[in-house]
Amino acid sequence: MASPETMREIRLRLAGRVAEHVRNDSGDIAPAVRHEPVSFYLDPELFAREQQKLFRETPLVACLSGELPEPGSYLSFDDAGVPIIVWRGRDRVVRAFLNICAHRGARLCREAIGAGHRLTCRFHGWTFGSDGRAIGVPEEAMFDGEIDGDKGLVAVPAEERHGLVFVQATPGSHMDLDAHLGDFGAELAALDLGQAVRVHETEFEVNANWKYVLDTYFENYHVAALHRETFAPNFLHRVRLFDAWGGHHRLTFPQRGVLDWIDKPEAEWPIETLPLAYFIFPNTVIPLGTVATPNGAYFSVNQIFPLGVGRMKNRYGVYAPYGVRSPEHQADLKAAFDAGVLVLGEEDYSVTGESFPALAALPPDKTFPIGRNEVGVQNFHAHVRRALAD
Ligand code: FES
Ligand SMILES: [Fe+2]
Repeated sequence: MASPETMREIRLRLAGRVAEHVRNDSGDIAPAVRHEPVSFYLDPELFAREQQKLFRETPLVACLSGELPEPGSYLSFDDAGVPIIVWRGRDRVVRAFLNICAHRGARLCREAIGAGHRLTCRFHGWTFGSDGRAIGVPEEAMFDGEIDGDKGLVAVPAEERHGLVFVQATPGSHMDLDAHLGDFGAELAALDLGQAVRVHETEFEVNANWKYVLDTYFENYHVAALHRETFAPNFLHRVRLFDAWGGHHRLTFPQRGVLDWIDKPEAEWPIETLPLAYFIFPNTVIPLGTVATPNGAYFSVNQIFPLGVGRMKNRYGVYAPYGVRSPEHQADLKAAFDAGVLVLGEEDYSVTGESFPALAALPPDKTFPIGRNEVGVQNFHAHVRRALAD
């Protein structure tokens, strides 16, 4: 078997394709325009099926491995629609549980992140270990009967892979990561996310459907208008590469700097600066290098969750791939984070949050045209529909 491609090899291949497209003023495109009914974003019945199929029965990225750095590190979140705690055990294995006390259902972990091998419920004082077992029940003898079968936290599937911690938010379900990732797993492995350190993070909430917001990550058509003063001077909005592994994808949105190097010998191509954005279906976007600093220096993670038909959340973080290496790097990371917050908050989320509430005024059979140039949006919609049809 051929050894897996390195990131360098992947980038070199992509740069060649970018050069070809730039010369031809072309880009990867879909076979035809897609006409999506506006109900795709508004239908409550569709939304309920998404919550079940995509957010309860599909593997989700809970966090990066680096957010659970030590045995005992834990993190809790409710965004998948059920409260979950992911917890690294003494054996370094990451496990996940419903963040619900086994005794009477109180919220067990009340912090977003923490560390330790025990958590005590504030209601009656039961204590649980990082393996989910009850290790302390105050005055257990007073129960005066057999309760061992009821004492553990309820586990949900969890697995660490390629520097990412995946969970599936349904207890007792089978999470098949190999089937979910397929050949995309080799690409994630090449990204080498396992040593990344989160340096900055924030959360956004927007009054828009989660898919309406995700769509903006998947096309560069809007760069010329919406990002006129931020990205547009640096990016070529007519050129893109699109590669899909089922519902997962990689988009390459080249910068204008390409024009300076495509006619040089390959060895001189600054392939490290080629901006790539990965999408892990159904909700996680990992753009590498969204402002003009060398690509290896940082990446961001956008975890998009539905809070309602017309409301979404992004857990947004900026990461140093191998830790922070210098004060200059620290400054670059802060600049990248600030630029991301500015562009998302004042441009992308501004337009989606302002516009979405009015979509209900459209007749439900009104369709939006998704261009051949918006191939990433098309693939996303097709795979949402496919997943819900199964
Ligand atoms: S609900 Fe947690 S100890 Fe009773
Ligand atoms: Fe945008």
